[in-house]
Amino acid sequence: MRRAFTAILVLGLAAGCQKKDPAEAGAAAEKRGTSENPWLIGMSQSNLGEPWRVQMNADIERSAKQHPNVRVIFKDAQNDSLTQRAQVEELIAQKIDLLIISPKETAPLTPPVAEAYQKKIPVIVLDREVGGDQYTAFIGADNHKIGREAGKLAREWLGPKGAIVELKGLMTSSPGQDRHAGFREGFALGRHPESKVVFEADMQWLEPNARKEMESALAANKHIDLVYAHNDPGAHGAYLAAKQAGREKEMKFIGIDALPHEGVAYVKQGILDATFAYPTGGEQAVTMALSILKGEKVPKRVTLGTRLYTKENVDQGGVEIP
Ligand code: FRU
Repeated sequence: MRRAFTAILVLGLAAGCQKKDPAEAGAAAEKRGTSENPWLIGMSQSNLGEPWRVQMNADIERSAKQHPNVRVIFKDAQNDSLTQRAQVEELIAQKIDLLIISPKETAPLTPPVAEAYQKKIPVIVLDREVGGDQYTAFIGADNHKIGREAGKLAREWLGPKGAIVELKGLMTSSPGQDRHAGFREGFALGRHPESKVVFEADMQWLEPNARKEMESALAANKHIDLVYAHNDPGAHGAYLAAKQAGREKEMKFIGIDALPHEGVAYVKQGILDATFAYPTGGEQAVTMALSILKGEKVPKRVTLGTRLYTKENVDQGGVEIP
């Protein structure tokens, strides 16, 4: 009887051990961050229809490829904030380990970002800001500074008597607001009452919109000295409208982004007079994501630099703006 009891006990213990083993193996399999079981990064992109954003995703993909212990799931919201919001929810439901987001607009994307953050999913916000502080870190260039430099350049080129067209990026997104405010500050219009922004419109970052708005600006103004567009597609759209009207030589064109195959190429071709680099931050986001996933502390804000490209310096790779 006693022997039988012991045997049952031993068997029972053995069974217990056996049961525990697969459970432990399961827990180990759940542990992410290896090449067999990589960390999942969700990347929420606002609109892949724009060249600069294609570059951002390419930068992220290239950097992530160097790390077999991470895998990136890309979502494209196709320029719709509600879609982007739904896609963030989907990524949260997919149990991502970290979220990278380049939001279309501030207000509609603030709540889903905060939700992810409150669910202990670290969030890196890229280029356009969300409201509040419910995210892990922000990476982006200083749009106010870029706008101010563009304003200073305009003042240098035009003196106090410029007739300026400003084609703004989406004004419900932070770069649009900052590039606008910075430009006004740089140009210091208040000190030059003879200088005027004779036409301004929100082209929402899109070349076809910019072209249409520029047609109106040309129709309403006999003379335009300078076009400041908040991105290179906008500046290019304005150039095409001016060229169509036979007036492209009358004015200078300033853009922002400076992709090698876009803005920089336009400066080389004499289409744009200047463009400012706006780094995508994609590579920095992947590096930071890995630090966060390894449990390291990261700064709340990383500000990326800019460069100015004009026909004088474009062949030397532009100049850094300190
Ligand atoms: C692309 C883009 C860029 C611009 C950035 C601002 O969507 O419009 O051209 O620099 O977004 O967020």
